[in-house]
Amino acid sequence: MRFLIQRFNPETDEKPYLQEYEVEVTPGMMLLDAFKAIKEQDESLAVRYSCGEGVCGSDAMNINGTNGLSCITPLADLKEPVTVHPVPGMPIIRDLIVDMSTFYHQYRAVKPYLIHHDPMPETELLQSPEDRDKLDGLYECILCGCCSTACPSFWWNPDKFRGPAALLQAWRFLADSRDQATALRLDELEGPYRLFRCHTIMNCMNVCPKQLNPTEAIGHIKKLMLKHSI
Ligand code: FES
Repeated sequence: MRFLIQRFNPETDEKPYLQEYEVEVTPGMMLLDAFKAIKEQDESLAVRYSCGEGVCGSDAMNINGTNGLSCITPLADLKEPVTVHPVPGMPIIRDLIVDMSTFYHQYRAVKPYLIHHDPMPETELLQSPEDRDKLDGLYECILCGCCSTACPSFWWNPDKFRGPAALLQAWRFLADSRDQATALRLDELEGPYRLFRCHTIMNCMNVCPKQLNPTEAIGHIKKLMLKHSI
């Protein structure tokens, strides 16, 4: 199978270029397996991965034009030549590895942890099964960045727009019956950029490898903000 992979070493290359590789494919191989085979031919190719199971989120990349995780992308599903670029809109460290600092900055900014002001109970901070169910589809995010880096609003304003991944997590805590920082969280998202730069383009939900729906979460935040303002 033929692969065209974007290469770029900022220290030695003027601009990115595509390099061609050929890999012998066996049934059941994932794209990550092809990278491992390519690295046996050319160890200079830089790819980031860890779990190989769609859990760590470190191998997000743009595969034939769509963001995804190489470890859970079957080669059988890909058109040849398989063209792979780094995820768009992020500074390239080398080849397919991008600098995720802005992404993590936006994630940290939504305070992705429970804020509870009342004295903590001795044992557990309980939640009804119904309230727990409200977190399904929110907590499963693995922070791969496929969604935010597929979002044009995030490309143009990565320093101002929180982006779909961070906003999904903002809603994950707003929706949590144990969290007591609703006003603080909503205040923090006020303004034309942080939340409202989402124009419902929906690239995020189309590329999420966990089938999560940041667009829907953003809609819930907007509705809650409206409710709180009247
Ligand atoms: Fe961990 Fe792909 S290597 S998600």
